Amino acid sequence: MRIALHTGKGGVGKTTISAATAVAWAAGGARTLLVSTDPAHSIGDVLGTRLHGEPTPVPGRPGLFAAQVDTRGRFEQSWRHIRSYLVGVLSARGMAEVQAEELVVLPGAEEIVALLELRRLAASGDYDAIVVDCAPTGETLRLLALPETIGFYAQRLLGTPQRVLRTIAASITGLPGAPNATVRDAVGELLSELMAARALLADPTITGVRLVLTPERMVVAEARRLFTALSLHGFAVEAVTVNRLLPPGVGGEFLRRQRESQREAMTQVEESFQGLPIRRVPTRPEEPIGVAQLAELAADLFAAGPAPADPLATVGAGPVTAGTGPAMEVTGSDGWYQLSLPLPLVDRGDLALSRSGTDLVVTVGDVRRRIALPSGLQRCTTEGASFAGGRLVIDFAADPAQWPAGLAAGVPGAVPGAAMAGAG
Ligand SMILES: Nc1ncnc2c1ncn2[C@@H]1O[C@H](COP(=O)(O)OP(=O)(O)O)[C@@H](O)[C@H]1O
Ligand SMILES: [Mg+2]
Repeated sequence: MRIALHTGKGGVGKTTISAATAVAWAAGGARTLLVSTDPAHSIGDVLGTRLHGEPTPVPGRPGLFAAQVDTRGRFEQSWRHIRSYLVGVLSARGMAEVQAEELVVLPGAEEIVALLELRRLAASGDYDAIVVDCAPTGETLRLLALPETIGFYAQRLLGTPQRVLRTIAASITGLPGAPNATVRDAVGELLSELMAARALLADPTITGVRLVLTPERMVVAEARRLFTALSLHGFAVEAVTVNRLLPPGVGGEFLRRQRESQREAMTQVEESFQGLPIRRVPTRPEEPIGVAQLAELAADLFAAGPAPADPLATVGAGPVTAGTGPAMEVTGSDGWYQLSLPLPLVDRGDLALSRSGTDLVVTVGDVRRRIALPSGLQRCTTEGASFAGGRLVIDFAADPAQWPAGLAAGVPGAVPGAAMAGAG
C-alpha cells in the first residue's frame, strides 16, 4: 500500500497534481484511489465526473477510482462536546504547562472525519495506492497532528485511557442519564482509530507527503515552513512538485521578467529541498481538465529527468524511494544517547527545547511538538542539541540520580521510531 498526500498553499495546483498523479499510477497498473480531504472539493471538477463519499470508477481510466469525503455534519455534534469538555477541563485545572495556543490546535470535526475515512479506505484492501488531495497548509497540519494532540490531552489531563473514554463518553451522552455502553464503545473505537490513522500516515514505508508549489517567493517561503513543520511532526516529505513553470519558447518583455523571477524562486527551491526529488510541470495554455489532459500533464510531471522515477507511475507497485531517513532514532550507549529527527530548514534561533514531565517539547517558530520520550531517555538529562544533515540531534546523558538503585546499567538502546508509537 502506498499513500501520497499532496499539500501546499491554496491555488498552487494540489488538486490538479493529485489527479494527474492518480491517473499516472492507475495507468502504471496500480488500483488507485484519488480522494480529497479538502472540504472545498474539486477533484470532481478536474476529472469532469460527479463524485460521492464512496469511491466511484473514473470513466476513461480503468483502475482509477475517486471519492470526496463528505465531512459536513456527520460528526459535528459529538466532537463539539468532546472539544468543549476538554477545554473545560483545561481551564478548571488551570494547568500552567498548557499554553493557550495549544487549545487552538484542537481541530474541527471535518479533520477527524477525513482521517477516519482515509484509514477506512486504506484498510478496505480494494486499492494498491491512494492519492490524497489535501486542504491548504494550515488545515493539513492540524489534520496530521490531530491524533497526537488528542493523545496528549487524553493522557495528560485525564489519566488512564479507560478514564478518558468514560469521561468523554459521559460528556457526549449529556448530563441527563448515565453514559451508555454503546456510546462509550464508540468513543473508545474513535480514539484507537485515530491513533491507527496516524500510524498509517506517519509510516514512511507507506505514506509520503508531496509538497506542491509554484515558482514564486511567497509560495516557496510557505513550502519551506511546511517542510519543517511536517518533519517535526514525524511525516516523511518525499518529493516537491513545482507547478506552473513558464514553458520554454514563449517570449515578450512581460514573460521575460516573469521567467527571471521564476528562475530566482527555482534557485531557492533547489537550495531548500536538496536531496528530495524536484519535479517540474509547465503552465499549460488551458486548465487541465479530464483524464486525457491530466495524462498529458502527468507525462511532464514524471518525465525522465534529474528527479528519480516515481515507481508507481511507471511499473506498478514498486519499492518506495528513500525519503529523509528514519523518522526518529535513538542511538548511543553507556550512558550517552542521541535522539535525532529530521528537522530541515531551521535556524538555531528559531528552535526551543524543553522538558515537560516525560515529554520533550520541541518548538520551531509557532509549531510545537511534544515527543513522548522512550522510558530510558526519561531518566536522562538533556545535554545539548545540534543540527547535522537536515536532522536535529539531541544529546542525553544518564542521570544516576534518577535511576533506581541497581538499574543504572539499564540502557535505552536503539528504539527506532519509538516516538511514532508513543503519542502524547
Ligand atoms: N500546470 C497548469 N497549467 C495550467 N493551469 C493549471 C495548471 N495547474 C493548475 N492549473 C489551474 O490552476 C487552478 C488552481 O489549480 P488547483 O489544482 O485547483 O489548485 P489547488 O488545489 O492547489 O487549489 C485551476 O484552475 C487549475 O486548472
Ligand atoms: Mg484544490
